Amino acid sequence: MSDERGHRWFAALYDRMTGSAERGPLGRARRELLAPVSGDVLEVGAGTGANFPQYPAGVRVVALEPDPHMLKRARARLAEVGRTDVEVHAAPAETLPVADASFDVVVSTLVLCTVADVPASLAEMRRVLRPGGRIVFIEHLRGDGALGTIQDIVRPVWSYFGAGCQLNRRTEDALAAAGFVVEVHERTKAAPWLPLIIGSATSR
Ligand SMILES: C[S@@+](CC[C@H](N)C(=O)[O-])C[C@H]1O[C@@H](n2cnc3c(N)ncnc32)[C@H](O)[C@@H]1O
Repeated sequence: MSDERGHRWFAALYDRMTGSAERGPLGRARRELLAPVSGDVLEVGAGTGANFPQYPAGVRVVALEPDPHMLKRARARLAEVGRTDVEVHAAPAETLPVADASFDVVVSTLVLCTVADVPASLAEMRRVLRPGGRIVFIEHLRGDGALGTIQDIVRPVWSYFGAGCQLNRRTEDALAAAGFVVEVHERTKAAPWLPLIIGSATSR
């Protein structure tokens, strides 16, 4: 499902796959998460740019995305929504091409499931945040009990068709291990097999 430069088909199908969730709980979660952000905002793994229309006026957004097929769609979305306060560049979360302490907010929505190196990505987010800054996130998690075991079993197939998405990551624990204090705004489910956490994280 991937080529040497990214995931062409995943990118092409992404908005269609998430369409009903975007019209429902996922779209609502994006609006609620992003309405209060202010200042300088860095978005990692911007995908097709689903967050772009939700940023309030007056923020400056630098959006990063390493997959060229996603990046193309993010640029098209940017033109469509006509935002001049959002810029898009190619970069992975593990090596953010920005200065230390240069952003007020880092946005990560459905990204920590897919990055190659979670601790390195979180260390980078911590590095680029100003004192008092925060990550705001929507991420799915490994479930408890039987659900977690099933996720462990189906993970390789899910990852193959999902452009590397690992559905059994313990992302809340990873944030704490990376030195963040996590504030959970909501625990919900993107699907019966996909527990979702919406919240923010500040450096300890
Ligand atoms: C499930 S999509 C989510 C896209 C978007 N954030 C959203 O909310 O719809 C995961 C995104 O993470 C990106 N990604 C994969 N590896 C990454 C990495 N190492 N650093 C940053 N983003 C990455 C993928 O290219 C993809 O765009």
